[in-house]
Amino acid sequence: MMYAIPFWEKRSHYLTPGENMVIRIFVVYYSLFGHVHRMAQAVAEGIVQAGFEPELYRVPETLPDEVIEKMGATQFQTEFRNVPVITPEELGHADAVIFGTPTRFGNMTAQMRSFLDATGKLWSRGALAGKVGSVFTSSGTQHGGQESTILSMHITLLHHGMIIAGLPYSFAGQTITHEITGCSPYGASTIAGGAGERFPSENELAGARYQGRYVANITRYIAGKQKEILSLAE
Ligand SMILES: Cc1cc2nc3c(=O)[nH]c(=O)nc-3n(C[C@H](O)[C@H](O)[C@H](O)COP(=O)(O)O)c2cc1C
Repeated sequence: MMYAIPFWEKRSHYLTPGENMVIRIFVVYYSLFGHVHRMAQAVAEGIVQAGFEPELYRVPETLPDEVIEKMGATQFQTEFRNVPVITPEELGHADAVIFGTPTRFGNMTAQMRSFLDATGKLWSRGALAGKVGSVFTSSGTQHGGQESTILSMHITLLHHGMIIAGLPYSFAGQTITHEITGCSPYGASTIAGGAGERFPSENELAGARYQGRYVANITRYIAGKQKEILSLAE
């Protein structure tokens, strides 16, 4: 599904019927060569399919332009240059956040790590507590750390008190064996290939859309109820 107006240029939000409440679902990601960007678009498509308007954001780049050029990534960056860069403070306005990061040695990227490390103020006032958090990823190789990347990122989301949503097995595409594919119960994923030559398959994109719909539908029920949920636990 393609959109005439990029998500990041639209600024109206979904209103819950009868409640007049704005529900904001963020897709916050880092991408160097475009694979996570493509997956982020599919996650956003899923959010749209659930009846919400997603907001796509990038985390700040920490690499100098010359390094990006040397890594051969400059041409890919043009695809997502217009996606706004989010600040840690802005993250607190989300009702749900679906994070995307490529794998770096089986873990999230330094860019994502350094963004999350700047969210201490949000943590201190529990700004994300009781909200839905979810993660998707991309790795070069089939067994190069997709699951460890997602799971290790969940730790930070749990410290924020987020309610973790993965990719349930009701997404049947994660059980197929007739083709190589990403996606696991932890979240959607794609295999980029050693030289980034492979782009997300239809099955991987379907997983990303599913994750978007899944998170959006959970959020539909709990958005705005964080204080109530937390106080009921006391
Ligand atoms: C420093 C570095 C470390 C990486 N570590 C891994 C790794 O541990 N496992 C793996 O499969 N791919 C690894 N990769 C490949 C990236 O995960 C791959 O380029 C990325 O998923 C592509 O996503 P993007 O196009 O959104 O940037 C690494 C890449 C770099 C530059």
